Amino acid sequence: MKRFLKFELKQFPLLALILAINCTDKDLKNSMSDIDKHSFAIPDQAKVVHLDLNLKVDFITKTLGGYVDLLVENKTHTKQLVLDSRDLVIEKVELDGNYSKAEFKLGDSIKFLGRSLTIQIKPDTKKVKIYYHTSPMAAAIQWLDPSQTAGGKYPFMFTQSQAILARSWVPLQDGPGVKFTYNATIACPVNLMALMSAENDTVKHTDGVYHFKQTNPIPSYLMALAVGDIAFKSLGKNCGIYAEPSLLPSAAWEFANMETMIQSAEELYGKYLWGRYDLLVLPPSFPFGGMENPCLTFATPTVIAGDRSLVSLVAHELAHSWSGNLVTNATWDDFWLNEGFTVYFEHRIMEKIYGKPYVDMLCKLEFDEMKKEISVMGDANADTKLKLNLVGRDPDDGVTDIAYIKGCFFLKTIENAVGRPKWDSFVNKYFKTFAFQSITTEKFLVYLNHELIHDNNILKQKIRIDDWVYKTGIPSNCPIIESTELQKSERAAKDYIHPQKLDTKGWTTHHWLHFLRCLPSKINTTDLQKLDAKFKFTQSGNCEILCDWFQIAISNDYDIAYNAMEKYLCSVGRRKFVQPLYEKLLANPKTKATAKEIYKKARPGYHSVARATVDQLMENK
Ligand code: BES
Ligand code: ZN
Repeated sequence: MKRFLKFELKQFPLLALILAINCTDKDLKNSMSDIDKHSFAIPDQAKVVHLDLNLKVDFITKTLGGYVDLLVENKTHTKQLVLDSRDLVIEKVELDGNYSKAEFKLGDSIKFLGRSLTIQIKPDTKKVKIYYHTSPMAAAIQWLDPSQTAGGKYPFMFTQSQAILARSWVPLQDGPGVKFTYNATIACPVNLMALMSAENDTVKHTDGVYHFKQTNPIPSYLMALAVGDIAFKSLGKNCGIYAEPSLLPSAAWEFANMETMIQSAEELYGKYLWGRYDLLVLPPSFPFGGMENPCLTFATPTVIAGDRSLVSLVAHELAHSWSGNLVTNATWDDFWLNEGFTVYFEHRIMEKIYGKPYVDMLCKLEFDEMKKEISVMGDANADTKLKLNLVGRDPDDGVTDIAYIKGCFFLKTIENAVGRPKWDSFVNKYFKTFAFQSITTEKFLVYLNHELIHDNNILKQKIRIDDWVYKTGIPSNCPIIESTELQKSERAAKDYIHPQKLDTKGWTTHHWLHFLRCLPSKINTTDLQKLDAKFKFTQSGNCEILCDWFQIAISNDYDIAYNAMEKYLCSVGRRKFVQPLYEKLLANPKTKATAKEIYKKARPGYHSVARATVDQLMENK
C-alpha cells in the first residue's frame, strides 16, 4: 500500500505537497522520507542505469545538441519512462535502437523543477534515444566570451549541475537517489579541450572530439562538462591540475600537496575509488568555491591566494569522493549528510597535514559564521534543522551553514561521546556499506544506532540525536572551539587604532579574517585609512580578505575602497563573495543605488546560480 502510494504521489505533486506538510503519521512520514520532491522521475518503476551522451558544443548558438541513449531498467513493466527536463528542446525519441519513434509529452513548467518528460515505452524497452538541444539560457551552463577568461583569446563554457540543474543540459532522472554510469562523446571547436566528471585525457585532440567514461554509478548532479583553452600539469602519480595555460604555474604551486591530501584521506577512511583525482581551475565567474565532480573537481581561481592558505577547499572537495560521491544524500532534504560529513572529513585531512591549531582556526571561523547566519535566519527557523523540508522550494535554499557546520558539529559531538577510534571505524564501515548508494537521514540514524549507539541510554543522552537532527538551533551540548591562534587576531583588533604597533608576523588568511571580524562595527575614516595604509587591504589580491574588508568599507562609508570593490564585483562571480556585498550595499541608504548600478554591469558576467540569488536580493529591496 505504501509503495503504491509513493508511485501515485509522484503523479500528483500537489497531493504529495499537502501530505508532506501535514502528515503526522510518523510511520508514513518515514516511509515517505526517500521521496524526491525535486524530481518528476519514478525510478521505483523505470530507472535509468546508464547514459551514452553524444553532443556537439556550439559557441556561436550557445547550445549543446545531439542525443542521449538511456539504458532503462523497467522494474514494473511500466509503459512510461518519466524524466526531468528544463528548457530543453526535444526533437525526437526512439526506442531500442530500431528507429521506432516513441510518443513523448512535456508536462507543464513548474517553478525550479522545469518540465516532466514522459516517454511511452514498452514493458521490455531497454534503450531510449532522445535527440535534443539545449537553450542558450540553460541554467546549468555558463558560456563565456574570450574577454571573461584569463587568456582572453578563446571562449569557455562550463556546467554546474548541483542541485537540480543537470536537467537543463541532459534529459535524465535528476534526483540524487538515482545513480547511473555514463559514456560521452563531445565534439568541440579545435584548439579547445573538453573535460568531464570522468576519465580525462591530458592533451588536446586535433579533431576536437573527446571520449569519456564514468564507470562508477553517479547521481545526475555530478554530471559535468567544461570546454576551453585548457592545459594540464601533473602533480603526482594520480593527480594534477587543469587550467588555462597562463594560470597553470601558479595553480600548480598552490596545490602542490594534492597527493599528500589523497594519501591522508585514504589513511583515514579507505581507498580512493575514482581512479585519478584532478582539479580544474575555472574562470572567476564560477559561482562556487569548488564542486566535487567525480575525478575532476571544479574550482574557483580565487583559491589561488599565492600562499597556499586556502587549500582546505581541496581537502573539502576531495573528501566528497567519499561523502557525497560514494554515499549520497537520497534527497536534498538530507543535504547535511553530504556536506556535514564532508566538512568533518575535510577537518580531519587538514588536521593530519597541518595540525590541530590550524583546524581550530577553521572551526572557530566557521562556527562564528554559522552563529551569524542563524541570528539572521532566527533560531526557531525550520531551516536550522539538519533534516530539511524543501518541498515546493529551490533546493538551493538548503545550502546554508546548517548542513555544513551544524552537520559537522553534530558528528564531532558523536565522536566526542564514543571516542575517536570507535568513531573512525564506524565512518570507515559506513562508507564501505553504503558505497555507490544513496541514503536518507533516517536510514543513517538506524545504521548509527545499530553500529555505534546500540540503544545505550547514557550515550543517547550525551549525544541528543533528535535535538540535533529534528530541532531548530544549536543544541547546548555542542562542542566549544577555542583557537589560540585566533586569539592573536582578537588582541590585535582591540588595538586597531595603532596599526603600526600590531605584530602580524606569520599571519595567514584566517588570522586576517578574524581580525577584520573582531573590529568594532563603526570605525571612522581616519582609522580606516590608517589600517588600509599599513595593511593594504583595498589592494589585497586575496578575495576572502577583500570580501570582509569591503563589507567594513560599506558599513562605514569608506568610499576610498569603492572603485576596487566595483572592479571586484564585476570580475568575481563566486556567490559567497558577491552576495554579502550586495546585501550590505542595499542595506545602506547611501549605497543602495550604487548596488543596482554595479549589478547592472556585473550581472551579465555571473552564472545563473549567482544571478538567481542576487536577483532575489534586488527584488526584495
Ligand atoms: N557541493 C558543494 C557546492 C554546492 C552545494 C553546489 C550545493 C550547489 C549546491 C561544494 O562541495 C562546496 O561545498 N563548496 C564550497 C566550498 C567549501 C570549502 C565549503 C563553496 O563553494 O563555497
Ligand atoms: Zn561540499
